[in-house]
Amino acid sequence: LGHLNPSEIAQAGLQALPTSAPSSKKPRVAVLGAAGGIGQPLALLLKASPLIGELSLYDIVGTEGVAADLSHIDSSVKVSSATGAEKLSDALYGCDLVVIPAGVPRKPGMTRDDLFNINASIVRDLCAAVAKYCPQAWVAIISNPVNSTVPIAAEVFKRAGTYDPRKLLGVTKLDVLRANMFIAEAIGKAPESVSVPVIGGHAGVTILPLLSQATPRVDVSAEKAKALTERIQDAGTEVVKAKAGKGSATLSMAYAAAKFAESCVLALQGQAVVECAYVESHLTDLPFFASQVRLGPSGVEEYLPLGRFSELEAKGFEALKSELRGSIQKGIDFVRKG
Ligand code: NAI
Repeated sequence: LGHLNPSEIAQAGLQALPTSAPSSKKPRVAVLGAAGGIGQPLALLLKASPLIGELSLYDIVGTEGVAADLSHIDSSVKVSSATGAEKLSDALYGCDLVVIPAGVPRKPGMTRDDLFNINASIVRDLCAAVAKYCPQAWVAIISNPVNSTVPIAAEVFKRAGTYDPRKLLGVTKLDVLRANMFIAEAIGKAPESVSVPVIGGHAGVTILPLLSQATPRVDVSAEKAKALTERIQDAGTEVVKAKAGKGSATLSMAYAAAKFAESCVLALQGQAVVECAYVESHLTDLPFFASQVRLGPSGVEEYLPLGRFSELEAKGFEALKSELRGSIQKGIDFVRKG
C-alpha cells in the first residue's frame, strides 16, 4: 500500500488501511463552536473528564470568556482558547480528536435540512482546516443536518488527500440516549440498564431505533412499539418546541457528545468500545449509515451486523432509504459542485 496516497488507500476499503497502535498519552481534544449552546456544557463536561489531557476551545466569538471560566475548575485538563478563522490553526494544532458543534440550531417549524444552507459551509471550512492542521485527528460531527454534514466532511478530506473513513464519525448518540430513556420509562427499568441500538441517520424517519434488539427485552404491543419509535424520531422537535425559539437540545446533546468523546479517547488508548455512529458504511447500499460500530485505536474497526428486524423496523428501514440517500447526495454535491 506504500505507493497509494491516503485517499486511494481509503477508497481501497477499511481493511486496507494500516492500523494504529494505542496511545498512552492523554489526548488533546478540540471543540469547534465552543461558545455555543452545546459547546459550553460540552466543554464543561470535558474539562471535568479524567480522560482528557488538553481542551482546545474555538469559536468565532466569545471563546476567551468560556475558557477563562472553565480554567478555574480544579481539574488537570489544560484549557486553551482561540477566536476567529485566523486562529483556527492554533486551536487545531496537535489535536487527537476534533468535536464540531459549530453552526445554527433549529427554531420551531424548521427541519434539520433547513439548516443546510448555513451549516454546510461552516462544516466544509472547518474540515478543510482540520485536513491542513491535524490530518490524523478523529473528527466527530454534531452540526446538523448530520445526514449531509458527514458526507460533506468526507468529500473535503478526500480532496485534501487525508480521508480516513474510520476516523470520521457523525454523532447520533443523543438518539440512543433518548431511546434508552423512553424505553426505560415504558418498561419500568432503570435507564442505566437499558441499551437500544439506533441505526440509519439523524433526522426524522431516518432515525430507526431497533426496539426488538434492546437489552433488556422490550415486550410491548406493536402499537406501543410504533408510538415509542415515533417519539424517539421526533424527540429533537419536542425540545425545539419547548424552547420556543431559543434553540434545540443543548444539555442532553452536550452530555451525549461528552460520553461519545470519552469513548473515542478510550478507543484511541486501546480499549474496544461499541458506539452507535453515522459513518461511511458498507452494511447497506447507502454510502453512509448509522449503526453500532466497534472503535479501536484506528477508529472504526468493526461494523456490528444490523441483526434481524421486526416487521415495524423492516418497514422503517425501507422508508428511510430515499430520504437518507438524498441527504447524502446533497452533501456530496455541495462540495463537488459548489
Ligand atoms: P448555538 O447557536 O448555540 O451555537 C453554535 C456555535 O457555533 C456558536 O457559538 C457560533 O458562534 C459557533 N459558530 C458559528 N459559525 C462558526 C464557525 N465558522 N466556526 C466555529 N464556530 C462557529 O447552536 P447549538 O445549539 O450549540 O447547536 C449547534 C449545532 O448542533 C446545530 O447545527 C444543531 O442543529 C446541532 N445539533 C445536533 C444534534 C445531534 O444530535 N447531532 C443535537 C442538537 C443540536
